[in-house]
Amino acid sequence: MVFDIITIFPRLFDSFLRESLIKKAQDKKIIDIRIHDLRKYTTDRHKQVDDRPFGGGAGMVIKIDPVYKALEGIKYKDVPRKKVVLLTPTGRQFNQKMAARYAKLNRIIFLCGRYEGIDARVERFVDEKVSIGPYILSGGEIPAMAIIEAVSRLLPGFLGNRESIESNIKYKDKISEYPVYTRPDVFITKDGKKLRVPPVLLSGNHKQIEEWRRKHLRQVLLDV
Ligand code: ADE
Repeated sequence: MVFDIITIFPRLFDSFLRESLIKKAQDKKIIDIRIHDLRKYTTDRHKQVDDRPFGGGAGMVIKIDPVYKALEGIKYKDVPRKKVVLLTPTGRQFNQKMAARYAKLNRIIFLCGRYEGIDARVERFVDEKVSIGPYILSGGEIPAMAIIEAVSRLLPGFLGNRESIESNIKYKDKISEYPVYTRPDVFITKDGKKLRVPPVLLSGNHKQIEEWRRKHLRQVLLDV
C-alpha cells in the first residue's frame, strides 16, 4: 500500500519512517511512504507556499497552485482504489472502522493542512476531510502519521505472528488488556515504598494466573 504525504514540513516524518514497525513494514514492502515537500512545487523565487487571506484576517493560507502541482506530480489518477484525504480539525472524525476501510485501498494521498488554513478550492480535489479528534493541532502531519499507523497495523504481515493472531481472534471490535509486569518483582521508590508484582503472577499456577487476568481485564469497545 502506498501512502503519499503532501506537507510543508517533510522532516517531521524522519523518525516516524525510520523506527520500529513502520520501518520494518517498509523494508518488507508492505507499505511505501512517499513524502512530498510542498515547497518543491512552488515556482516563485522565494518558494512561497502560503499567502495572506483574501478579505483580510489573521494567519496565512496555503496556496492552491503548489498543492495542485503536487497532486498532478503524484500521478495517482489511474490507480484503482485510492483516496485523497485532507487532514483538518473540521473533518470527519477518524475511527477504527475508517482504518479498516482505508486498509483495503491501494493508495492514500494525505494533504496536510496547517491549522490557519488551506485555500478552500483544494477541496475540489479531495475525497474526504478527516480529523483525528476534537482538538486542535498545528497541522495535519501528526494526524497523517496516526492514520498511517492505524491502517498499516491492519495490513497482512505488518504485525508479527503472535500479535496478529491475538489481534485477529480476541480483539476484533474490542481492545482488551490486562495489567502486565516484568522484573524486578519488587520495585523500591526513593522514599522506600515497595511496589510489588501481584504474587499470583509469580506463583507458576497457570489456572490462577488466567483467572486473575480475566478479573483484571480492561476493555475498550471500538466502533467497528
Ligand atoms: N489539523 C489540526 N488539527 C487537526 C486534527 N485534530 N485532525 C486532523 N487535522 C488537524
